[in-house]
Amino acid sequence: MPPQAERPFVLAHLSDLHVSAFGDTFHDRLRVVSRSKNLADTAPSRWELVWEAAGWSVLRRIGKKASDIELIDPDGYSHPIPSKKVVDDPEPLARAVFLARRLEARRAASLAKSPPDSRTLDWLAEETPKNTNLRLLRAARAIDAGVSAVVITGDLTDNGTGYELVSSAFERYRDKGRLFVVPGNHDLYMFPFSGSGRPKPTPESKRAAWRAFAAELGLDLHTSGAWHKVIPEASLLLVGLDSCARPQRRFYRQNGAIGEAQAAHVRELLADKDHQKLRHKIALLHHHVVPLPHGVGRSAPSEIGMRLDDAESVARLFDEVGVTTVLHGHRHVSEERKPAGAKFRIFAGPSFTLGCRSGDEPSYWRIELAERVHGERVYTGSAAVAGESVFSLEDVAGATDEA
Ligand SMILES: [Fe+2]
Ligand SMILES: [Fe+2]
Repeated sequence: MPPQAERPFVLAHLSDLHVSAFGDTFHDRLRVVSRSKNLADTAPSRWELVWEAAGWSVLRRIGKKASDIELIDPDGYSHPIPSKKVVDDPEPLARAVFLARRLEARRAASLAKSPPDSRTLDWLAEETPKNTNLRLLRAARAIDAGVSAVVITGDLTDNGTGYELVSSAFERYRDKGRLFVVPGNHDLYMFPFSGSGRPKPTPESKRAAWRAFAAELGLDLHTSGAWHKVIPEASLLLVGLDSCARPQRRFYRQNGAIGEAQAAHVRELLADKDHQKLRHKIALLHHHVVPLPHGVGRSAPSEIGMRLDDAESVARLFDEVGVTTVLHGHRHVSEERKPAGAKFRIFAGPSFTLGCRSGDEPSYWRIELAERVHGERVYTGSAAVAGESVFSLEDVAGATDEA
């Protein structure tokens, strides 16, 4: 009888989810949800409640005209009432309620708590096709049952909020200890625009949110910022690296670095005889170690403000210690390669929600780990956004290209 074929351990490599409080992203800035002052502490005696549902409320200032109302979300923040041009109704209250219902259906915290069924999700997505929160839920359901573990290479969030939705979307992997993530520049660095996340993030609050999420997933962060896991049945060592390990170096630049401390830790991990014996040694990081093209017929994206500053030494380190495969995201480009001058293989992940910069629709890499490594691109069935409406930071800080 011929020997039975080895059943492969399958990784789904996803990247760049860009979820946010309401699914709005910096990639589509016209639709960023604006929120203003926190009215949670406002003296109740000066307001009367005129409408309330699902934690949302409309308040009217006592003694002022009927149209002088405030729409308050469940976190206590005020939203501007849409104009008649946007919502065709003469009544400000009706317009406020319309907005509240629309935002509530896309709110990360609410979607995480009670995910909608597939039909509702399809209907919501049709109304707001670029919404990353909805896209994440739809795409996560497209991951096939044969996938053993999910790895996400950064930009989990658009601006540091929405981790609860990531956790909920991949709960079946999270609960088995099979959800592995690293942070990206959007998760840890600052941007020159205001998103919908409140309170407004700071470098400290972003770092704290990332650490809390890593802890929730059981990823023990080494003092350098890295984590590692051994999966014996796959003969696999996973090493998660923080490519934003150092503070943002210049105003709003998104350049990252692995840094000396993580490099030393990787050397230490790979010097371990038990780790050396494993067949697959996979490094996960957000930034790219080799510059990427945009694809057929498209020129290479600019590296200014986007690169990994110690990319060359990191690539040499990977070869030196025997890393077999590198998974990364960041540029929203989907590509598999074995770069000249390196022994490791690279899978660059596109955005799982926004798509590939080539114009290709959202996808993920389905990577089989057996005696050999085999990757297939799997499309999740949404139209691409990244290729059509990527903004530029050029005018703000000399940086180019958002990812
Ligand atoms: Fe990025
Ligand atoms: Fe990104």
